[in-house]
Amino acid sequence: MAALQIRAIPTGRVAVKLESKPNQIKRYLLTVYESLNFINAESGYCYARGIIILTRQPKIYIAGHRGMVGAAIVRTLQQQGQTNLVTRTHAELDLTNQVAVQAFFEAEKPDQVYLAAAKVGGIHANNTYPAEFIYQNLMVQANVIHQAWRVGVQKLLFLGSSCIYPKLAPQPMTEDALLTGTLEPTNEPYAVAKIAGIKLCESYNRQYGQSHGVDYRSVMPTNLYGPGDNYHPENSHVIPALIRRFHEAKVSHAPTVTIWGSGTPRREFLFVDDMAAASVHVMNLPLATYGAQTKPMQSLINVGFGSDLTIAELAQSVSDAVGYGGKIVFDASKPDGTPRKLMDSHRLNALGWQAKVNLADGLRMAYHDFVQHHTN
Ligand SMILES: NC(=O)c1ccc[n+]([C@@H]2O[C@H](COP(=O)([O-])OP(=O)(O)OC[C@H]3O[C@@H](n4cnc5c(N)ncnc54)[C@H](OP(=O)(O)O)[C@@H]3O)[C@@H](O)[C@H]2O)c1
Repeated sequence: MAALQIRAIPTGRVAVKLESKPNQIKRYLLTVYESLNFINAESGYCYARGIIILTRQPKIYIAGHRGMVGAAIVRTLQQQGQTNLVTRTHAELDLTNQVAVQAFFEAEKPDQVYLAAAKVGGIHANNTYPAEFIYQNLMVQANVIHQAWRVGVQKLLFLGSSCIYPKLAPQPMTEDALLTGTLEPTNEPYAVAKIAGIKLCESYNRQYGQSHGVDYRSVMPTNLYGPGDNYHPENSHVIPALIRRFHEAKVSHAPTVTIWGSGTPRREFLFVDDMAAASVHVMNLPLATYGAQTKPMQSLINVGFGSDLTIAELAQSVSDAVGYGGKIVFDASKPDGTPRKLMDSHRLNALGWQAKVNLADGLRMAYHDFVQHHTN
């Protein structure tokens, strides 16, 4: 991490020196009441008359910034005035490539990391490509977390998933349910990788927390939706799938939309910008505050909306947001899945965060994004 040295010199000017090269001064937010009038390239000092206030912004790397969650984290950080953000597309940096990730961290040396890059998919993709799901997620996490530690990153946030909890975990699911039972078989490889990610963070904290100030945290989002979602016809989650179905029914004036199952299972949904806000909130909590709600070997925090609704209620809300005028029919001969999946978010609430975007508003924004980016 580059540091600033500031010293007053007898002429009344203020001299500022960066440990690193002088031209890196541009990376710092400089609020200067009288403009910087000289940068001496040789000495690395820059001089200003009058009062100079220097605020160094942390350099923040958002892994997976083109994904739904990563993009929302970038939006949230930018809204908060953070300008020192580092991103790389998948094509520019394959996070499964250990050598490339090492070179990237050595070159950029970020202060903070949001790890929102992952191989993500629905039941069909998880079932069809289990090797890719476990291998790629393990590699991405191990590379990013280890290389972050190597270059001295002290603050990192890892994004997990609610599928880390046992299939039959008591509802609502608390963080204590981790590793208390058998996982849902369809996405077990993905869930095992995510559990490994949590344990990587905890292990680096336990071994290097005291000595190196390492403070790596994990958040477990419930089902997310919003701008940047995946609307693939076969491979999307329930809300984007419903948005597409109702939109197509509206455009083709179809009289009914048939939904698989009885419509009675209950699920929880969180708008992605709320997830991003929660991520930034958790990242920025003082260590003592975070530590008061977590344990060294159970450091994860659930991020949920706080209440659930039935699939029938959800379908009606999506239909309303899309403006579909037809009827919704449920095909109860098709399987329902787990009767209820709800996160217990009391820990996060106790840490001072609550979801803000209600379902109707969130669905309206998601539909707007769908129309803009996924229709002609
Ligand atoms: N969406 C949800 O409902 C939900 C729910 C719970 C948890 N989460 C978690 O939130 C995180 C983000 O999810 P998301 O919905 O934002 O997923 P997403 O939209 O699929 O974004 C993931 C991003 O990671 C990138 N990526 C994947 N493998 C990579 C690699 N080897 N190297 C570099 N980049 C790579 C992807 O790039 P490419 O597209 O170019 O491959 C993509 O931009 C994940 O950890 C996920 O488990 C999401």
